[in-house]
Amino acid sequence: MQALVLAAGKGVRMRSRRAKVLHEALGISLLGHVLRTVEALGADPVGIVVGHRAEDVEGAFPGRATFLRQEPPLGTGHAVQVAGEHVARHPERPLLVLSGDVPLLRLATVEKLLILHRESAADATLLTAALPQPGAYGRVLRDASGGVRAIVEARDATPAELAVREINAGVYVFDVPALLGALGRLRPQNAQGEYYLTDVVGLLTAEGRRVAAWTTDDPLESRGVNTLAELSEITRILRSRRAVELMASGVVIEDPETTVIGPDVRVEADAVIRPFTMIEGHSFVAAEAVVGPYVRMVDAEVKQGAVILDHCFLRDCVVGPGAVVGPFAHIRPESVIGPRAKVGNFVELKKTHLGEGSKAPHLSYLGDATIGPSVNVGAGTITCNYDGVNKHPTRIGAGAFIGSDTTLVAPITVGEGAYVAAGSAITEDVPADALALGRARQVIKEGWAAARRAKRAGSGAKHS
Ligand code: UD1
Ligand code: MG
Repeated sequence: MQALVLAAGKGVRMRSRRAKVLHEALGISLLGHVLRTVEALGADPVGIVVGHRAEDVEGAFPGRATFLRQEPPLGTGHAVQVAGEHVARHPERPLLVLSGDVPLLRLATVEKLLILHRESAADATLLTAALPQPGAYGRVLRDASGGVRAIVEARDATPAELAVREINAGVYVFDVPALLGALGRLRPQNAQGEYYLTDVVGLLTAEGRRVAAWTTDDPLESRGVNTLAELSEITRILRSRRAVELMASGVVIEDPETTVIGPDVRVEADAVIRPFTMIEGHSFVAAEAVVGPYVRMVDAEVKQGAVILDHCFLRDCVVGPGAVVGPFAHIRPESVIGPRAKVGNFVELKKTHLGEGSKAPHLSYLGDATIGPSVNVGAGTITCNYDGVNKHPTRIGAGAFIGSDTTLVAPITVGEGAYVAAGSAITEDVPADALALGRARQVIKEGWAAARRAKRAGSGAKHS
């Protein structure tokens, strides 16, 4: 089977400069959703007809399809004509045609459509849906024996035809030679002056060819996106579908209404996702991990039993088993938090490896650091990893103790088991098991405060 996705339309009603099919729902563009479906089906080759903002669309999916330019767009039939030569290279492979703006279409539905096409030996098979309010969709006209006869666009329909509730979802499977023959006979004689792909159906049945139809029991699937309001609606549906799917597989989602989990995210059974949490990209959450509330993860991995507390942001990082992060932590790319380690509030990690059981509980910046196991990083510790030109590494050995409010001026190494006194600015390497003090010595002036108070009291009396 081969596939062709139509995505050349302008999407005027989006009122946006961005190509319509590049608008995102649940972190993936509309066209991206359709491509995922097509790829999951193993379609080969995959063609995409582009026109409006063609470069942007092509640039968004490098290597994932052959792009065919339709300039100017003269209708859905014309879009397929433009792909004629491309499609004709494999005339024996049935052609799946879909629109780039129908992200709710389910894989299972397209599979059923393809099976029906094959088993009924049809020249064309279309997906239809029964809608209480069929609106602007094309209407499916059937003959007395119930077979599909033609599709009429709403703008060209008679009142009787408009009353038909069965609509064309814009998803088709075609026998390629039959399609190419009919495409050559399309005429733009309709209300929009366009070449309609839908007219192919009438042309095929007129010459006695068979057109089959599969009616989806979920009319939502045929929903296209034409406005930004519809985009938000569709995002809501995708979000809720994903939550239902994950809950069915054993994931605890406390409040699906406020939880966003992207299509490429993996969550194991018995993970707990608390309210107001967004998990995006290729993130992973293992069993017994607890994430949220108010957490955002992008391409982040949270291993078994780890806990991500309120208001954390994690990107492109790994949180080891049993580790605890947050509340209010920022874990930046290439950071790895070891098993049972702890990262507390107002701590930022960047490209930092925190060893097993190590702790950075409060108010720290740890960047470009490699921290061994069982290290205690005191409150307010800062790695000075940037000299204004280059980034430098910090190494802290196993079991070291970094006192509060320490600045570690990188490149720097603190050896295993060493102590750094609170308030130190560390500029030289600290040997293993040593104590480093890097601060001014404290001075005590006995009685100084009392003397000052006495002096002030005396002068106060004079002036009152
Ligand atoms: C089309 C169908 C209609 C069906 C509906 C389902 C036709 C004539 N009508 O109508 O029966 O109910 O889809 O959603 O096909 N496109 C191009 N080049 C063009 C025109 C469109 O690539 O010249 C692409 C669009 O980007 C879009 C898809 O084809 O992805 C469908 O086009 P659109 O204008 O949305 O068709 P509808 O009017 O919705
Ligand atoms: Mg249209």
